[in-house]
Amino acid sequence: MNLPNQEKLRLKNKYGDWAIVTGASSGIGLELATQLATAGFNLIINARNQERLIIVAQQLKSHNVEIKSVAADISEKEGIEKIIQAAQGLKVGLLINNAGYGNSGLFVDASLDSEINLLRVNCEAVLVLTHFFAQQFKQQGRGGIILLSSLVAFQGVPYAANYAASKAYIQSFAEALAVELKPFGVDVLAVAPGPVETGFGQRANMIMDNAMMPEELGVPILTALGKQTNVVPGLRSKVLNYALNTVPRFMKVKIMEKVMGGFTKHQRSGAG
Ligand SMILES: NC(=O)c1ccc[n+]([C@@H]2O[C@H](COP(=O)([O-])OP(=O)(O)OC[C@H]3O[C@@H](n4cnc5c(N)ncnc54)[C@H](OP(=O)(O)O)[C@@H]3O)[C@@H](O)[C@H]2O)c1
Repeated sequence: MNLPNQEKLRLKNKYGDWAIVTGASSGIGLELATQLATAGFNLIINARNQERLIIVAQQLKSHNVEIKSVAADISEKEGIEKIIQAAQGLKVGLLINNAGYGNSGLFVDASLDSEINLLRVNCEAVLVLTHFFAQQFKQQGRGGIILLSSLVAFQGVPYAANYAASKAYIQSFAEALAVELKPFGVDVLAVAPGPVETGFGQRANMIMDNAMMPEELGVPILTALGKQTNVVPGLRSKVLNYALNTVPRFMKVKIMEKVMGGFTKHQRSGAG
Protein backbone atom coordinates (compact mmCIF):
# COMPACT_ATOMS: atom_id res chain seq x y z
CA MET A 1 0.00 0.00 0.00
CA ASN A 2 1.25 3.48 -0.87
CA LEU A 3 0.30 6.84 0.58
CA PRO A 4 -1.79 8.90 -1.86
CA ASN A 5 0.01 12.02 -3.08
CA GLN A 6 -2.30 14.37 -1.17
CA GLU A 7 -1.49 12.54 2.10
CA LYS A 8 2.22 12.77 1.37
CA LEU A 9 1.82 16.52 0.85
CA ARG A 10 -0.29 16.94 3.99
CA LEU A 11 2.24 15.10 6.14
CA LYS A 12 5.24 16.93 4.69
CA ASN A 13 3.60 20.36 5.00
CA LYS A 14 2.42 19.69 8.53
CA TYR A 15 5.39 17.84 10.02
CA GLY A 16 8.43 18.21 7.69
CA ASP A 17 11.46 18.27 7.34
CA TRP A 18 12.87 15.50 9.53
CA ALA A 19 11.28 12.48 11.19
CA ILE A 20 12.78 10.16 13.80
CA VAL A 21 11.85 6.47 13.68
CA THR A 22 13.10 4.19 16.43
CA GLY A 23 13.26 0.51 15.55
CA ALA A 24 13.34 1.40 11.86
CA SER A 25 15.31 -1.63 10.68
CA SER A 26 12.44 -4.11 10.41
CA GLY A 27 8.70 -4.69 10.65
CA ILE A 28 6.37 -1.78 11.36
CA GLY A 29 9.20 0.73 11.86
CA LEU A 30 10.72 -0.09 8.48
CA GLU A 31 7.31 0.24 6.83
CA LEU A 32 6.72 3.66 8.46
CA ALA A 33 10.23 4.86 7.58
CA THR A 34 9.73 3.76 3.97
CA GLN A 35 6.36 5.51 3.65
CA LEU A 36 7.84 8.69 5.15
CA ALA A 37 10.81 8.58 2.77
CA THR A 38 8.42 8.34 -0.18
CA ALA A 39 6.66 11.42 1.24
CA GLY A 40 9.98 13.31 1.18
CA PHE A 41 10.93 13.22 4.86
CA ASN A 42 14.58 13.13 5.82
CA LEU A 43 14.97 10.48 8.49
CA ILE A 44 16.89 9.68 11.63
CA ILE A 45 16.62 5.92 11.87
CA ASN A 46 17.53 3.87 14.92
CA ALA A 47 17.97 0.20 15.82
CA ARG A 48 20.71 -1.79 17.57
CA ASN A 49 22.07 -3.81 14.64
CA GLN A 50 24.36 -1.49 12.70
CA GLU A 51 24.84 -3.67 9.60
CA ARG A 52 21.11 -4.01 9.12
CA LEU A 53 20.63 -0.28 9.65
CA ILE A 54 23.22 0.51 6.94
CA ILE A 55 21.32 -1.65 4.44
CA VAL A 56 18.03 0.04 5.35
CA ALA A 57 19.63 3.49 5.07
CA GLN A 58 20.79 2.65 1.52
CA GLN A 59 17.27 1.53 0.57
CA LEU A 60 15.70 4.69 2.00
CA LYS A 61 18.22 7.00 0.28
CA SER A 62 16.89 5.78 -3.08
CA HIS A 63 13.91 8.08 -2.39
CA ASN A 64 16.25 11.09 -2.59
CA VAL A 65 16.09 11.95 1.09
CA GLU A 66 18.79 12.38 3.74
CA ILE A 67 19.21 9.55 6.21
CA LYS A 68 21.07 9.63 9.52
CA SER A 69 21.55 6.22 11.10
CA VAL A 70 21.86 5.87 14.85
CA ALA A 71 22.88 2.36 15.87
CA ALA A 72 22.04 2.41 19.57
CA ASP A 73 20.30 0.41 22.26
CA ILE A 74 17.53 2.59 23.68
CA SER A 75 17.36 0.52 26.85
CA GLU A 76 20.50 2.51 27.74
CA LYS A 77 20.64 6.22 28.58
CA GLU A 78 23.57 6.69 26.18
CA GLY A 79 21.54 5.12 23.37
CA ILE A 80 18.72 7.63 23.81
CA GLU A 81 21.26 10.44 24.09
CA LYS A 82 22.75 9.44 20.71
CA ILE A 83 19.35 9.92 19.03
CA ILE A 84 18.92 13.33 20.65
CA GLN A 85 22.44 14.31 19.57
CA ALA A 86 21.77 13.23 15.98
CA ALA A 87 18.74 15.55 15.90
CA GLN A 88 20.68 18.64 17.02
CA GLY A 89 20.18 21.54 14.62
CA LEU A 90 17.67 19.68 12.44
CA LYS A 91 14.05 20.71 11.87
CA VAL A 92 12.48 17.60 13.40
CA GLY A 93 8.68 17.52 13.17
CA LEU A 94 7.86 13.86 13.72
CA LEU A 95 8.81 11.38 16.42
CA ILE A 96 7.83 7.76 15.87
CA ASN A 97 8.32 5.78 19.06
CA ASN A 98 8.20 2.39 17.44
CA ALA A 99 11.06 0.29 18.87
CA GLY A 100 9.74 -2.28 21.26
CA TYR A 101 9.58 -5.97 21.87
CA GLY A 102 7.53 -8.60 23.62
CA ASN A 103 8.18 -11.74 25.56
CA SER A 104 5.98 -14.60 26.65
CA GLY A 105 5.54 -17.35 29.18
CA LEU A 106 4.91 -17.38 32.90
CA PHE A 107 6.06 -14.13 34.52
CA VAL A 108 7.07 -16.01 37.66
CA ASP A 109 9.63 -18.04 35.68
CA ALA A 110 11.04 -15.09 33.73
CA SER A 111 14.35 -13.37 34.43
CA LEU A 112 13.68 -10.14 36.32
CA ASP A 113 16.49 -8.36 34.46
CA SER A 114 14.91 -9.11 31.10
CA GLU A 115 11.48 -7.94 32.31
CA ILE A 116 13.06 -4.68 33.48
CA ASN A 117 14.86 -4.30 30.15
CA LEU A 118 11.52 -4.65 28.36
CA LEU A 119 10.13 -1.78 30.43
CA ARG A 120 13.18 0.36 29.63
CA VAL A 121 12.75 -0.11 25.87
CA ASN A 122 8.95 -0.13 25.65
CA CYS A 123 8.25 2.59 28.24
CA GLU A 124 11.22 4.51 29.67
CA ALA A 125 12.85 5.26 26.30
CA VAL A 126 9.46 6.40 24.95
CA LEU A 127 8.99 8.63 27.99
CA VAL A 128 12.43 10.26 27.66
CA LEU A 129 12.30 10.80 23.88
CA THR A 130 8.73 12.09 24.04
CA HIS A 131 9.59 14.50 26.84
CA PHE A 132 12.53 15.91 24.90
CA PHE A 133 10.84 16.27 21.52
CA ALA A 134 7.45 17.39 22.89
CA GLN A 135 9.26 20.41 24.36
CA GLN A 136 10.83 21.17 20.99
CA PHE A 137 7.52 20.66 19.16
CA LYS A 138 5.68 22.89 21.65
CA GLN A 139 8.24 25.62 21.10
CA GLN A 140 7.98 25.41 17.32
CA GLY A 141 4.16 25.22 17.47
CA ARG A 142 3.88 22.04 15.46
CA GLY A 143 4.83 18.38 15.48
CA GLY A 144 3.55 14.83 15.55
CA ILE A 145 4.25 11.94 17.91
CA ILE A 146 3.27 8.37 17.14
CA LEU A 147 3.39 5.72 19.87
CA LEU A 148 3.10 1.97 19.26
CA SER A 149 0.52 0.52 21.59
CA SER A 150 -1.18 -2.82 20.82
CA LEU A 151 -4.51 -4.63 21.15
CA VAL A 152 -2.95 -6.27 24.22
CA ALA A 153 -3.05 -2.84 25.91
CA PHE A 154 -6.75 -2.96 26.75
CA GLN A 155 -6.81 -5.84 29.24
CA GLY A 156 -4.43 -8.07 31.15
CA VAL A 157 -2.86 -10.75 28.98
CA PRO A 158 -1.82 -13.99 30.70
CA TYR A 159 1.51 -15.36 29.37
CA ALA A 160 2.52 -11.87 28.20
CA ALA A 161 1.75 -10.03 31.43
CA ASN A 162 4.58 -7.51 31.48
CA TYR A 163 4.53 -6.86 27.72
CA ALA A 164 0.78 -6.17 27.78
CA ALA A 165 1.20 -3.91 30.83
CA SER A 166 3.94 -1.97 29.01
CA LYS A 167 1.53 -1.33 26.14
CA ALA A 168 -1.26 -0.31 28.54
CA TYR A 169 1.18 2.35 29.80
CA ILE A 170 1.82 3.55 26.23
CA GLN A 171 -1.90 3.63 25.40
CA SER A 172 -2.77 5.67 28.48
CA PHE A 173 0.23 7.98 28.08
CA ALA A 174 -0.60 8.70 24.44
CA GLU A 175 -4.30 9.40 25.05
CA ALA A 176 -3.51 11.93 27.77
CA LEU A 177 -0.68 13.61 25.87
CA ALA A 178 -2.90 14.02 22.83
CA VAL A 179 -5.14 16.31 24.90
CA GLU A 180 -2.30 18.17 26.65
CA LEU A 181 -0.35 18.88 23.45
CA LYS A 182 -3.23 19.73 21.13
CA PRO A 183 -3.34 23.45 22.11
CA PHE A 184 0.32 23.71 21.07
CA GLY A 185 -0.30 22.33 17.59
CA VAL A 186 1.24 18.96 18.41
CA ASP A 187 -0.60 15.80 17.31
CA VAL A 188 -0.29 12.52 19.20
CA LEU A 189 -1.44 9.17 17.87
CA ALA A 190 -1.72 5.83 19.68
CA VAL A 191 -1.48 2.87 17.31
CA ALA A 192 -2.96 -0.44 18.46
CA PRO A 193 -2.35 -3.27 15.98
CA GLY A 194 -3.24 -6.90 16.43
CA PRO A 195 -0.69 -9.57 15.41
CA VAL A 196 1.71 -8.48 12.66
CA GLU A 197 4.22 -10.72 10.86
CA THR A 198 7.57 -9.10 11.82
CA GLY A 199 10.65 -9.96 13.86
CA PHE A 200 8.42 -9.51 16.92
CA GLY A 201 7.08 -13.10 17.08
CA GLN A 202 10.51 -14.68 17.02
CA ARG A 203 11.94 -12.41 19.72
CA ALA A 204 8.85 -12.88 21.90
CA ASN A 205 8.86 -16.65 21.26
CA MET A 206 5.26 -16.50 20.05
CA ILE A 207 3.79 -18.23 17.02
CA MET A 208 0.98 -15.88 16.00
CA ASP A 209 -2.06 -16.87 13.95
CA ASN A 210 -3.75 -14.61 11.42
CA ALA A 211 -1.00 -12.02 11.47
CA MET A 212 -1.13 -9.03 9.12
CA MET A 213 1.82 -7.91 7.01
CA PRO A 214 3.57 -4.66 8.06
CA GLU A 215 2.87 -3.23 4.58
CA GLU A 216 -0.84 -3.17 5.51
CA LEU A 217 -0.17 -0.78 8.40
CA GLY A 218 1.87 2.18 7.18
CA VAL A 219 -0.83 3.98 5.23
CA PRO A 220 -3.64 3.73 7.84
CA ILE A 221 -1.25 4.83 10.60
CA LEU A 222 0.16 7.86 8.81
CA THR A 223 -3.23 8.83 7.40
CA ALA A 224 -4.69 8.87 10.94
CA LEU A 225 -2.00 11.20 12.33
CA GLY A 226 -3.44 14.65 12.97
CA LYS A 227 -7.03 13.47 12.41
CA GLN A 228 -7.61 11.15 15.36
CA THR A 229 -5.83 10.12 18.55
CA ASN A 230 -6.27 6.35 18.26
CA VAL A 231 -5.96 4.02 15.33
CA VAL A 232 -6.45 0.28 15.10
CA PRO A 233 -4.72 -0.27 11.75
CA GLY A 234 -5.71 -2.99 9.29
CA LEU A 235 -8.89 -4.96 8.84
CA ARG A 236 -7.84 -7.94 10.97
CA SER A 237 -6.92 -5.66 13.89
CA LYS A 238 -10.30 -3.94 13.59
CA VAL A 239 -12.24 -7.22 13.60
CA LEU A 240 -10.32 -8.48 16.66
CA ASN A 241 -10.79 -5.17 18.45
CA TYR A 242 -14.50 -5.14 17.67
CA ALA A 243 -14.94 -8.71 18.93
CA LEU A 244 -13.05 -7.98 22.15
CA ASN A 245 -15.12 -4.87 22.81
CA THR A 246 -18.37 -6.81 22.83
CA VAL A 247 -17.50 -8.46 26.16
CA PRO A 248 -16.72 -7.17 29.68
CA ARG A 249 -13.08 -6.70 30.70
CA PHE A 250 -12.80 -9.91 32.79
CA MET A 251 -13.99 -11.87 29.74
CA LYS A 252 -11.40 -10.13 27.58
CA VAL A 253 -8.72 -11.42 29.96
CA LYS A 254 -10.15 -14.93 29.56
CA ILE A 255 -10.14 -14.61 25.77
CA MET A 256 -6.56 -13.31 25.83
CA GLU A 257 -5.56 -16.24 28.04
CA LYS A 258 -6.80 -18.53 25.26
CA VAL A 259 -5.26 -16.47 22.44
CA MET A 260 -1.84 -16.09 24.10
CA GLY A 261 -2.04 -19.67 25.34
CA GLY A 262 -2.33 -20.65 21.66
CA PHE A 263 0.55 -18.38 20.58
CA THR A 264 2.82 -19.90 23.24
CA LYS A 265 1.66 -23.53 23.39
CA HIS A 266 4.78 -24.74 21.52
CA GLN A 267 6.75 -23.68 24.62
CA ARG A 268 4.80 -26.09 26.80
CA SER A 269 4.96 -28.89 24.23
CA GLY A 270 8.76 -28.51 24.34
CA ALA A 271 9.12 -27.29 20.75
CA GLY A 272 10.27 -23.79 21.70
N1 LIG B 1 4.30 -7.45 15.54
C1 LIG B 1 3.22 -7.37 16.28
O1 LIG B 1 2.39 -8.31 16.32
C2 LIG B 1 2.91 -6.13 17.05
C3 LIG B 1 1.59 -5.91 17.48
C4 LIG B 1 1.30 -4.76 18.20
C5 LIG B 1 2.30 -3.86 18.49
N2 LIG B 1 3.59 -4.10 18.08
C6 LIG B 1 4.62 -3.11 18.43
O2 LIG B 1 5.16 -2.58 17.23
C7 LIG B 1 6.48 -2.12 17.47
C8 LIG B 1 7.38 -2.59 16.35
O3 LIG B 1 7.51 -4.00 16.43
P1 LIG B 1 7.62 -4.95 15.16
O4 LIG B 1 6.48 -5.87 15.23
O5 LIG B 1 7.84 -4.18 13.94
O6 LIG B 1 8.92 -5.79 15.59
P2 LIG B 1 10.34 -6.03 14.91
O7 LIG B 1 10.21 -6.44 13.49
O8 LIG B 1 11.03 -6.96 15.86
O9 LIG B 1 11.04 -4.60 14.96
C9 LIG B 1 11.52 -4.04 16.15
C10 LIG B 1 12.50 -2.93 15.80
O10 LIG B 1 12.97 -2.34 17.02
C11 LIG B 1 14.39 -2.44 17.10
N3 LIG B 1 14.77 -2.59 18.50
C12 LIG B 1 14.44 -3.61 19.32
N4 LIG B 1 15.00 -3.42 20.53
C13 LIG B 1 15.66 -2.23 20.47
C14 LIG B 1 16.44 -1.50 21.39
N5 LIG B 1 16.67 -1.94 22.63
N6 LIG B 1 17.00 -0.32 20.99
C15 LIG B 1 16.81 0.13 19.72
N7 LIG B 1 16.07 -0.54 18.80
C16 LIG B 1 15.52 -1.70 19.18
C17 LIG B 1 14.75 -3.64 16.19
O11 LIG B 1 16.07 -3.62 15.68
P3 LIG B 1 17.32 -4.28 16.48
O12 LIG B 1 16.90 -5.66 16.87
O13 LIG B 1 18.46 -4.22 15.52
O14 LIG B 1 17.54 -3.41 17.66
C18 LIG B 1 13.74 -3.44 15.07
O15 LIG B 1 14.19 -2.44 14.19
C19 LIG B 1 6.85 -2.59 18.87
O16 LIG B 1 6.73 -1.53 19.78
C20 LIG B 1 5.83 -3.67 19.15
O17 LIG B 1 5.59 -3.83 20.52
C21 LIG B 1 3.91 -5.20 17.35
